[in-house]
Amino acid sequence: MPLPPEFLSELQARNDVEDVIGSYVNLKRRGRNLVGLCPFHAEKTASFTVYPETASFYCFGCTAGGDVVTFIKRAENLDYMEAVRLLASRSGMAVPEDESYQHLATAKNRILECNRTAARFYYQCLYSKYGTQALAYLKGRGMTDETIKKFGLGFAPPGWQNLIDYMKTKGVEQEELATADLAIKGQKGSYYDKFRNRILFPIIDLRGNVIGFGGRVMDDTMPKYVNTADTLVFKKSDHLYAMNLAKNEAKDSLILAEGYMDVIAMHQAGFPTAVAALGTAFTTSHAHLMTRYVKQVILAGDTDEAGQKAVGRTINILEEAGLDVRVITLTGAKDPDEYIQKYGADRFKLLLEGAVNDVEFRLGNIRQKHNIDTPDGRIAFLNEAAGVLASLKNPIERDVYASKLAADLEVKKDSILLQVNNLIKKKVKTTQKKAMRQLSNDTGGFSDKLNPDKSKHLRAAKAEEGILALILCNAALTDFVFGRLQPDDFITGLHKKIYTAMADLAAEKKQISLTALSIALNADEIARLSGIIAAGAQQKNTKEEAADLIAVIKTEREKENAKLGSEEEIERYLKKIAEQKNRGI
Ligand code: GTP
Ligand code: MN
Repeated sequence: MPLPPEFLSELQARNDVEDVIGSYVNLKRRGRNLVGLCPFHAEKTASFTVYPETASFYCFGCTAGGDVVTFIKRAENLDYMEAVRLLASRSGMAVPEDESYQHLATAKNRILECNRTAARFYYQCLYSKYGTQALAYLKGRGMTDETIKKFGLGFAPPGWQNLIDYMKTKGVEQEELATADLAIKGQKGSYYDKFRNRILFPIIDLRGNVIGFGGRVMDDTMPKYVNTADTLVFKKSDHLYAMNLAKNEAKDSLILAEGYMDVIAMHQAGFPTAVAALGTAFTTSHAHLMTRYVKQVILAGDTDEAGQKAVGRTINILEEAGLDVRVITLTGAKDPDEYIQKYGADRFKLLLEGAVNDVEFRLGNIRQKHNIDTPDGRIAFLNEAAGVLASLKNPIERDVYASKLAADLEVKKDSILLQVNNLIKKKVKTTQKKAMRQLSNDTGGFSDKLNPDKSKHLRAAKAEEGILALILCNAALTDFVFGRLQPDDFITGLHKKIYTAMADLAAEKKQISLTALSIALNADEIARLSGIIAAGAQQKNTKEEAADLIAVIKTEREKENAKLGSEEEIERYLKKIAEQKNRGI
């Protein structure tokens, strides 16, 4: 059951697009619209536009677009219903919850309840006679009771049914435990505990819910970690370990490490802004979560080859999200945990203070690859280094590093900059080419997956876009347009679908808005429609214009019908010939 359009219209009316987006993006008025820096991709010049008249937004840089709900969905990393609920509570509205949603909400709550009870059980086991060895292991790695409590660490005893039996006394059946991925159904149909003989690290979300667990062995058995698989309440690529704690401590920056143990060691040593991805590669989703709290991230990765490779990849993801990146190098230890054990918190603090920025990190990495004592090595190093400098957007920054490199390698700064500028020119040319291609794709509709008919029917498609934008921009013309133009007059599939959805709303005298249309259209289609609005913002949206556009659409339709007609005729003719042949005439 979708949400009723009346509700969505009111939701949109009560959540002014300018207000809502304005609380995330610094918007400046430009004519009838507002512009700002796009929150969904890193940019230096504003291509993100808000259209108060249609309650929509569109970014010309990354083609993100939609209504207030779409915006909140992306900005807050929520699903559709969660975004609706956030906006509803912001404006004091009750959400008409449908049945399937209620079911889902109940199922999620039960999983969270299971997790919480299990976490308590594991914690108690750690401090019981069964947990002696586990507790000794944690103490042996330097953890205090206070830290263990703060992170809610626990111990799953050896054996196949410990948690299952315990939960039964709490009225939870094993089938339900399986939905939380705490029990597993074996091949013969019987259930067993997922976590056995492991130290457990509860994973806690920003609201304090236990959403999953990581479980570590206490020796060299493989696999070292077993983690909760994705459940209704847990998607590991969306969460960062200890973010629930770090978010309250972080003012300027977060520290990003690889392992649970690293994070805990850092918190205990007085660095409560440390977080880690949950045994998975760092994702853009992680980076966006971080941008909600800080502008800078300090990377404290493992020092082995895999760790350093991961740091390189992570730098790119963080930078794309617009975060300032620093990197520390842990000389003499494999990870932050070991570094703090060996050298102490004070020295780790010095390391953080002296964290180099990502340019220095990348230059350092390249330098290690080449032997700069030989002329060939120096040339190879400088060529690669020029590539790094060419990727910097700020010319002053390029100049500073060029000076440093020049002094370091005793070469002329001008020759370095010459090489850098050559690379930049080359890059500008390829990006320009790419942009041109993109533009001609967009306008020509080549390989337009959403609306594949567009490339064959450009004139019709343009007029269709014009009329769709006009309907959203000038509600006064609704009757005029729908009285004269039928969905079947549209030639391209996507536009016809959109127009049909609009016609349905109009027939019921409902307001036609992006928000109301999101019942019938998916997120990609809504984004495209907001792009159509963005392009249509240049039109006058008058009755005369509507009449002109309708005329074009009708003519194109007639041409198309004629074409179809003639195709039919030809087909009939060919059939006739074939039949005659068969009869031997
Ligand atoms: P220690 O070895 O005790 O210092 O633990 P660590 O947490 O630092 O582990 P390590 O540096 O080896 O790995 C970093 C992170 O990768 C861990 O915290 C886990 O999240 C993840 N990880 C490591 N081993 C495994 C594994 O076998 N399976 C899975 N799923 N994740 C793992
Ligand atoms: Mn480690």
